[in-house]
Amino acid sequence: MTVAIIYHSVSGHTRQVAEQLADACDGMLIEVVCRTPYNVVTRYVVGGKRALSGEKDEIDPAMIDVADFERIVIGTPVWARHPTPAINAAVDALRGCEGKEAAIYATCGAVAGDTIALLQSALEQKGVRVVGGVVFAQHELQSEEKQKELVSLLGDTCAQ
Ligand SMILES: Cc1cc2nc3c(=O)[nH]c(=O)nc-3n(C[C@H](O)[C@H](O)[C@H](O)COP(=O)(O)O)c2cc1C
Repeated sequence: MTVAIIYHSVSGHTRQVAEQLADACDGMLIEVVCRTPYNVVTRYVVGGKRALSGEKDEIDPAMIDVADFERIVIGTPVWARHPTPAINAAVDALRGCEGKEAAIYATCGAVAGDTIALLQSALEQKGVRVVGGVVFAQHELQSEEKQKELVSLLGDTCAQ
């Protein structure tokens, strides 16, 4: 097992991409969940606002050790054109990540805004080298082209 696929997903889109990638690369799925889940209203009025401010939610697992993996993938839903507070926390929770390469992806309705750039910057502050990012808009969730683009970022750790 050489690829850790760390993701947050509320309505399942980001999980779907993570599962497709895990199948393609024999990767290990690590789902991050909020300790205090949002409901359908607070997701927008609280979660969206917290995403916009770059805040972190309390998550499980509280620590994510990736020392045994060659590569990391981080997948986030787009909230208010930003990574989710749970994914901000997941980056903070990474251990053993310094010097590793990571690929990023985001799923969104249509507009990802600054999501990839912000996630890249947060990972770089942890000493991770980001090799690229892919955005999956709603209609692209099952796009083979997009999936190949993401797989190609993993190089020979994900030879198909
Ligand atoms: C609080 C909130 C804010 C959102 N903001 C955006 C946005 O700025 N741009 C966009 O294209 N989609 C936005 N969406 C839609 C989600 O990014 C999209 O449905 C995503 O694929 C959900 O991922 P999930 O199913 O893994 O939770 C938002 C959804 C929520 C719940």
